Amino acid sequence: MKLLFTSFALGMASTSAFLAPRLAVPSALSSQARTSPSSLSMAIDGYNVDLRGKTAFIAGVADANGYGWAITKHLAEAGAKVIVGTWPPVLGIFKATLDSGKLAEDLKTSTGESWEIAKIYPLDATFDRPEDVPEAVKTNKRYASLGGYTISEVAKEVEKDFGKIDILVHSLANGPEVTKPLLETSRNGYLTASSASAYSMVSLVQHFAPIMNEGGSVLSLTYIASEKVIPGYGGGMSSAKAQLESDTRTLAFEAGRKYKLRVNTISAGPLKSRAASAIGGGEKGKKTFIEYAIDYSRANAPLAQDLYADDVGSTGLFLSSPLARCVTGVTMYVDNGLHAMGMALDSIAMQQE
Ligand SMILES: NC(=O)c1ccc[n+]([C@@H]2O[C@H](COP(=O)([O-])OP(=O)(O)OC[C@H]3O[C@@H](n4cnc5c(N)ncnc54)[C@H](O)[C@@H]3O)[C@@H](O)[C@H]2O)c1
Repeated sequence: MKLLFTSFALGMASTSAFLAPRLAVPSALSSQARTSPSSLSMAIDGYNVDLRGKTAFIAGVADANGYGWAITKHLAEAGAKVIVGTWPPVLGIFKATLDSGKLAEDLKTSTGESWEIAKIYPLDATFDRPEDVPEAVKTNKRYASLGGYTISEVAKEVEKDFGKIDILVHSLANGPEVTKPLLETSRNGYLTASSASAYSMVSLVQHFAPIMNEGGSVLSLTYIASEKVIPGYGGGMSSAKAQLESDTRTLAFEAGRKYKLRVNTISAGPLKSRAASAIGGGEKGKKTFIEYAIDYSRANAPLAQDLYADDVGSTGLFLSSPLARCVTGVTMYVDNGLHAMGMALDSIAMQQE
C-alpha cells in the first residue's frame, strides 16, 4: 500500500493514499483555516503574564502560519522582546513578506496593538560551527551573501546584540526522506532528519544556555509519531521526535543543574502550517495527509474541536513563563487529547449493525 506522507518540515513531497478513515468525515473540516486566530482571545483573563524585560529567541520562524510564529506572538503580547532565527533558504521571502506589510494583521496583539520582531538572524540549525559548513552550502546562492548562520555564531551574535536571553524556542524540523517509510529510509536520510530535527535542539541548548539567565525556559515542538505509529510520518522523522522527547528529559536534568534552566516540549496536534500544507496530496480531489490528520483528530479526539496555532502559542507562553517555574522535563500534549485514545471512534469496527 502506498502511503501519504506528512512533513512538518520543509521540502517534503507527497505521495498518494493514506489510510483512509473508514467512516466519512465531513470534508469541509479539513478546509477550515486552522492557523488563524479563533474567537478565543489570546488575553489571559484574570492572570497577567508579564514578560516585560525578558528576551526570547525563537528558532524556526519563516511565516505567520506555523507554531513558531504563534509562540512568538504570544511571548510578544506578554511583553517579551522577540528575536527569531530563520532558515536561509526562506529568509529572503520572509523578510520580503514582512517588508510588504502583508503581515500587518498578524503583527497585532489581541488588543490591537502592534508588536514587532526585534531582529531576524539567518540560522541553519544543521551546522554548529563555521567549519561544519560544506563548500557547496557556503557558495549556494541562498547562503553566499550571508554569514554567521551556524548555531554557535548566532548565539554569539545574539549575546552581542541583546546580552543574556530568557527564553529559547526550537520550532523547526526537516527530514529529506519523510516521504519514505522507515523500511526504505537511507542512512543519510535518517541521520539528516535526526540532525536537523533533534540534534539541533541539543546544539541550541549547548550554545544558548551559557547566554541565558537563571530561571530561563527552553521549549521545543514534537509530534505523537514519536510514540505511536503514524503511517506516513517517515524518513526517520518519528525517530527524530522520539530523540527530541528523550533529550528533553536529559537536558532538563543537565541544564537544570548546570544553568538553572527549564526544558520542555509540546506535543502538538496537526496544524495546516505552510510546510504541512505544502506536502499536498498529489492527486487532484484527494485530501492531503495533514487534512486526514486534522479530520482524524476531529473525529476521534476527546475534544472534537478545531486546534489553532494560537492554542499551542498560549501553552508555549505558559511553559515559558514563571507560571511554569517548577515544570521541567515534560512532554505536554496540546492535541485535544488525541494522545489518550486507544481506539478510533470512526473505525468501521465501531459501527452498530
Ligand atoms: N504542523 C503540525 O501539524 C505539527 C504537529 C506537531 C509538531 N509540529 C512541529 O512544530 C514545529 C514547527 O513546525 P510547523 O508545522 O509549525 O511548520 P513551520 O513551517 O512553521 O516551521 C518549520 C520551520 O523549520 C524551519 N527549518 C527547516 N529546516 C531548518 C534548518 N535546517 N535550520 C533552521 N530552520 C529550519 C523552516 O524554515 C520552518 O520555518 C516543528 O518541530 C514540527 O515538527 C508540527
